Amino acid sequence: MSFDPKLLRRIRREFPMAEHDPSGRKRAFLDNGAGTLVTRKSAEAEAKARLDWSANVGNYFPESQGAGQTILEGRRAVADFLRAEGPETIISGESCTSLLFELSYALSRGLTGKESIVVTGFEHYANINPWAELGGMGMIEQLKFARFDVNSGYLDMEDYKQLVDKNTKVVSVAAASNVLGTRCHLTEMCKIAHDAGAYFLVDAVHHAAHGPTDVKKIGCDALVFSGYKLFSRHGSFMYLTPELVEKLHPYKVDSSPKHGPEKWEMGTRDQAMFAAIRGAMDYIAWLSNPSSRTPPKPGQQRSSKLKQAMERIEAYEKDLTRIVLDGYGRLMGLRYIPSLTLFGPNEIDKKVGRDPTFAFKLAGYGDHELSKILWDKYGLAVGAEDYYSRVPAQYNAKTMVRATFVHYNTKDEAQALLRALNELSEKKK
Ligand SMILES: Cc1ncc(COP(=O)(O)O)c(C=O)c1O
Repeated sequence: MSFDPKLLRRIRREFPMAEHDPSGRKRAFLDNGAGTLVTRKSAEAEAKARLDWSANVGNYFPESQGAGQTILEGRRAVADFLRAEGPETIISGESCTSLLFELSYALSRGLTGKESIVVTGFEHYANINPWAELGGMGMIEQLKFARFDVNSGYLDMEDYKQLVDKNTKVVSVAAASNVLGTRCHLTEMCKIAHDAGAYFLVDAVHHAAHGPTDVKKIGCDALVFSGYKLFSRHGSFMYLTPELVEKLHPYKVDSSPKHGPEKWEMGTRDQAMFAAIRGAMDYIAWLSNPSSRTPPKPGQQRSSKLKQAMERIEAYEKDLTRIVLDGYGRLMGLRYIPSLTLFGPNEIDKKVGRDPTFAFKLAGYGDHELSKILWDKYGLAVGAEDYYSRVPAQYNAKTMVRATFVHYNTKDEAQALLRALNELSEKKK
């Protein structure tokens, strides 16, 4: 079920910055791949926790009790969102980059230097350098990159199957490329990794805002995502199977807990970060049934509401993707504009879909020049960079222009992007 215009207006009211920038200029925010806008529910929950529950955990007075409760409720909400076993599987960190470095250290214990690690050719560096570092220290033999087809943007599954063998210790892949929008066939890839005896880890930072994430269905050993790409603030979360939470040995100081997620968390937690992600989850759960006044109960009920909401988001984003790729009325879509090169899938994969992330170049314009024109003249906020990715280099480019839509974007905004690019392409003829 997609969103009707009335619901979309309500959704946009939940994001105070959806209509205009801080100076009051009306614009379309399409730089969501770099960080989404923040929901009112998340910001308000964070502010309340910041003021009310500012004490450290573990004591008897209300500020301390409230802080502990806020952290637990945040973990519960994330566990429900990921359809994980429970709050004991949810670890927080400063960023996904730091969580992946932490995990790479923990997994490196026991390596002999003969093992390999497999990632894809379209990873963010946050999912490359933690593993490359192990190679640099001689702890693994090789870091392998599964190829993707530069024409279609799809991962070459045959290459992936060949790379994963009995020496593979870890496979770590993006749920979706933050440049191309390509999604991975996670469940299938996980089975291949597990059959070879490797751990399977997922970087869901880019994808989390675009569809349901189900760690059990994937079967993964770990999965990371960041609050600032999911309608909340900075700070990130990692799912680890209950077994791995206990079995692995992360960096820790002596007095910190020896069990549970706290064992993995370095230093003192910021309870407001947990309140903020809980607020974002409350918002997402609301989307499953906006006319209901009763929020779902934590646990299974909330988990299925969150899943339903993410399915709705995915269905709506599919409509936006069709407009952007195929066009609307007389406006040509990105796949048809003659002087535009679209990188990544020009269709929606039938099995796993596609994230509404579009990287492109327009002949006759530098990427920064184009993004500035799109902003100055058309009020369209897009990115122009390398996105911490090896993807541009694989097309012999340093940067690309990128527009990423999320569910608060409108069909009018998708058309506005096309109108601008159709016009600019026409001008350069
Ligand atoms: C796919 C992907 N992975 C990892 C990261 C890094 O996340 P963080 O900023 O939380 O370290 C990003 C950020 O752009 C990303 O898009």
